[in-house]
Amino acid sequence: MNMKVNLAGVELKNPVMTASGTFGSGAEYSEFVDLNKLGAVVTKGVAHVPWSGNDTPRIAEIHSGMMNAIGLQNPGIDVFCERDIPYLQQFDTKVIVNVCGHAPEEYLAVVERLAEEPIDMMEINISCPNVNANFLAFGQDPRHVEELTAQIKKIAKQPVIMKLTPNVTDIAEIARAAEAGGADGVSLINTLTGMKIDVKRRTFALANKTGGVSGPCVKPIAVRMVYQVAQAVKIPIIGMGGIQNAEDALEFIMAGATAVSVGTANFTNPYATVEIIEGLERYMKENGVEDIRELIGIVK
Ligand SMILES: Cc1cc2nc3c(=O)[nH]c(=O)nc-3n(C[C@H](O)[C@H](O)[C@H](O)COP(=O)(O)O)c2cc1C
Repeated sequence: MNMKVNLAGVELKNPVMTASGTFGSGAEYSEFVDLNKLGAVVTKGVAHVPWSGNDTPRIAEIHSGMMNAIGLQNPGIDVFCERDIPYLQQFDTKVIVNVCGHAPEEYLAVVERLAEEPIDMMEINISCPNVNANFLAFGQDPRHVEELTAQIKKIAKQPVIMKLTPNVTDIAEIARAAEAGGADGVSLINTLTGMKIDVKRRTFALANKTGGVSGPCVKPIAVRMVYQVAQAVKIPIIGMGGIQNAEDALEFIMAGATAVSVGTANFTNPYATVEIIEGLERYMKENGVEDIRELIGIVK
């Protein structure tokens, strides 16, 4: 039985990885999860300098999910390279570093630094507000997506995955722009912008007013978007959004994802990733699937 998949030239032992921002840099979870079992660890977003994030409250519960407005708090690329990359190097798993920035120069500074580091891939978070475009996210304008992708590709030494925001009218158009810019793959979805009012306090539940919705409630939207993108581009897709169990992961794979990321589920069940890998194995045995790659994009 084969669980290995090839993601933009990088071989993963299985298609299950963590979703950025929900697993720290791996160290926090390594007490519960044997990182050697994972297809890859995707780290929390890292910027060229430390970011302190938003004011609190920064998270809120909702039915079947959560909202967050962490604001991409991170220690900056210097600390990340000194502390987090060597930590992850100890494990037999692939390391995918998620990158954030407010302007192209900020992304490029991180990518240039990472080019020399022993990491396997980069995932570029283009949901960040673009200071040069009235704080609209990079990922909401296909021209910015293509341009930023092309600039990153010029200096990156590892495969580049562009992480798409679902807060757009036509996700396929954005994915095509990333492909045209030379992306080696796309990942989707990032969180959907939402709002919650705390009626007792008569104000917003989050200090930032709005926050990103994630968890099981977003899954049908995410599966639909992965399917649409799979019809639109030839580059591989990492699917995510509300994956809690192997059946959820299979939906994304059948819709066209080569690999999947598990995010919010880690907060309620730290073993979620490993249980999903075991569940995929079980499904394959029970259904006579010899190679997981047979299932990628099987629904047309
Ligand atoms: C608390 C939290 C922090 C996140 N931080 C990041 C981040 O730093 N970079 C990023 O690209 N996505 C980030 N995300 C988005 C997730 O990686 C993922 O795309 C999204 O939550 C959907 O998957 P899920 O429903 O399985 O959580 C974050 C999500 C949550 C809930």
